[in-house]
Amino acid sequence: MDQNVQPLDRIEEGDEPLSNHSANPFFADIAAARMSRRGWIAGGMAAFVTGFLPAGEAAASTTPSAAVTGPQPQIGFQAVPVSSGDTVTVPPGYSVRVLIPQGTMLDGSAGRPLPQMSGEEQGRAIGAHHDGMHFFPIEGRGPDEGSSTEGLLVLNHEYVEPRFMHARATGLSIDRGRMPLEEGARNPDEVLKEINAHGVSVVRIARGTDGAWNVVPDPRNRRVTGATPMEIAGPARGHALLRTRYSPDGTRTRGTLNNCAHGVTPWNTYLTCEENWAGYFRNSTEVDQKPDLPREHERYGVPTGQSRYNWDLARGGADEFVRFNATRLAADATGDYRNEPNGFGWVVEVNPFDPAATPVKRTALGRFAHEGVVFGPVVEGRPVVAYSGDDARFEYIYKFVSARPFQRATANGALLDEGVLYAAKFNADGTGEWLPLAHGQGPLTAANGFADQGEVLLNTRLAADRVGATKMDRPEWGAVDPVDGRVYFTLTNNSRRTEAQVDGPNPRPRNVFGQIVRWREAGDDHAATRFAWDLFVIAGPEADSRVAGGAALTADSSFACPDGLWFDADRRLWIQTDIGEGDQLRGALAPFGNNAMLCANPVTGEMRRFLTGPVGQEITGVVTTPDRCTMFVNVQHPGATTPAADFAAGRINSQWPDAGQLPRSATIVITKNDGGIIGT
Ligand code: FEO
Ligand code: CA
Ligand code: CA
Repeated sequence: MDQNVQPLDRIEEGDEPLSNHSANPFFADIAAARMSRRGWIAGGMAAFVTGFLPAGEAAASTTPSAAVTGPQPQIGFQAVPVSSGDTVTVPPGYSVRVLIPQGTMLDGSAGRPLPQMSGEEQGRAIGAHHDGMHFFPIEGRGPDEGSSTEGLLVLNHEYVEPRFMHARATGLSIDRGRMPLEEGARNPDEVLKEINAHGVSVVRIARGTDGAWNVVPDPRNRRVTGATPMEIAGPARGHALLRTRYSPDGTRTRGTLNNCAHGVTPWNTYLTCEENWAGYFRNSTEVDQKPDLPREHERYGVPTGQSRYNWDLARGGADEFVRFNATRLAADATGDYRNEPNGFGWVVEVNPFDPAATPVKRTALGRFAHEGVVFGPVVEGRPVVAYSGDDARFEYIYKFVSARPFQRATANGALLDEGVLYAAKFNADGTGEWLPLAHGQGPLTAANGFADQGEVLLNTRLAADRVGATKMDRPEWGAVDPVDGRVYFTLTNNSRRTEAQVDGPNPRPRNVFGQIVRWREAGDDHAATRFAWDLFVIAGPEADSRVAGGAALTADSSFACPDGLWFDADRRLWIQTDIGEGDQLRGALAPFGNNAMLCANPVTGEMRRFLTGPVGQEITGVVTTPDRCTMFVNVQHPGATTPAADFAAGRINSQWPDAGQLPRSATIVITKNDGGIIGT
């Protein structure tokens, strides 16, 4: 943490540094220009929100959109109040149980206490920092079809908090970052343990006769970690910039890192997304005593000094660890790991039903800080469309359109290897365009430094800069309305936006509360290259927020920093919050308490707070069983707000989920006491 910046300017643990210095316009500018043009300048925020677009209004001056109509979801629970307690709170009539905290063995046994667990054991146990997640019904026929009492729960493990994992940390003054070095090196088993706590867990679970869900031993239970061998597929496969000592032909790499949100393919596989991966590496190459980083490192913020956890400094210098040092050391790329960071920043496909299947990095979907990926509805004979956000300040929203049509009988991951990746441009008049990132088109030519499509994809951010995409406020999860096909994206916050960047009526020169944007594709064709957008909600406190239609948020619905987002099959929109550790219960974000989850009606904009989490965590990842009667939600990094001095003194500010023990990330299972549908 940089102590010299104000809390709201701080780059949160693991977040990438600001690295988009292009001249592309800002989303805020465009929203401002739009409101300005419509005569809503006077009165600042009040005028802005009074004139806030009614549902579907974006379509008025264009053709593709229309009012949000159709069946409304039933939302019947009593909202829970804001909480700062060290517990999970759900509405009256609902129950919560804890499932698979970090360190639970894949056979369901509790395993040794996490601080005593070895690195190898962690590789056979549930990882850290649970995030995106899906419940695959056990029959395996489709991602949302089949059993509601037994399935494969597949979840991401985003990062680690080493002080809660290692016995050696006890009594030391450590914040939530890296462990201290010992004589300039790291203990290799601690490093292995941290690497093995990343990635994905596949674990079979079943509901017992007592209603409790438990792990069921199964050959398909497995861990994918930061060290698992992976194939590289798509246009960047075999590219010179992917050649390493491990893979001289540039077709393979090891591991997936910082697995934030996820995607579920129409062919029943799981996608895990690599978000803040750049910091795990370092590139200390210098020329004339100045850092000399290639653009495919510099534009993503690969550090020149220490790496995030100092894995590259593991004692003994094993190849599996030194690969995190991307400094140029050898005569060419096949003699060192200068290209190792280029194997990260991708979407990775994992087949949960085939434990022998090698995970595949699907490079056609681009390389950036992938938050998650969400598919448009599939139509037989039409392309597959997938949306993904780049979660860093002033980065972009993308969509991929497959070259080949979807055919249910034969669809597989190869559909994701050929197609067009687009970046979004939001126009001031409520329309938008998808700008292709295709080699040879527009400015993406060899003359401009893009030798081939692999190079475009390895430098996705630079390609999007060149075509003129719109700089957004940290795009996080996307969700697609199951009724009208509108796409919703959370824009979590962006405290770095200056007054100059938001001139006019824009209410948020320092956007600390975030908003949710949505759009409808032209002709309701997800492969279209034009769309119409509006804002679904401007988050914030009651006095500084608005929902489409004009109402403010209330005591039952105020929230900040939307992150996780998911539509259930009944059209309830579930919104999860991630107020950063440095801002929780502080300043402008104090009124929101601990991170929470809300439920929204996309037609009316009605929202209610459904759940609040324990101290220091974020709520992330949500899915239900097909009958919608069991909901799984992840509680990530409880206790992360514990100051280093308090940790040294043994004063941990969360003991969730086990009283008297170190806090651990876990999945929670929510049921309605009458057995009914969650949210009704
Ligand atoms: Fe890992 Fe952008 O949240
Ligand atoms: Ca997230
Ligand atoms: Ca987040």
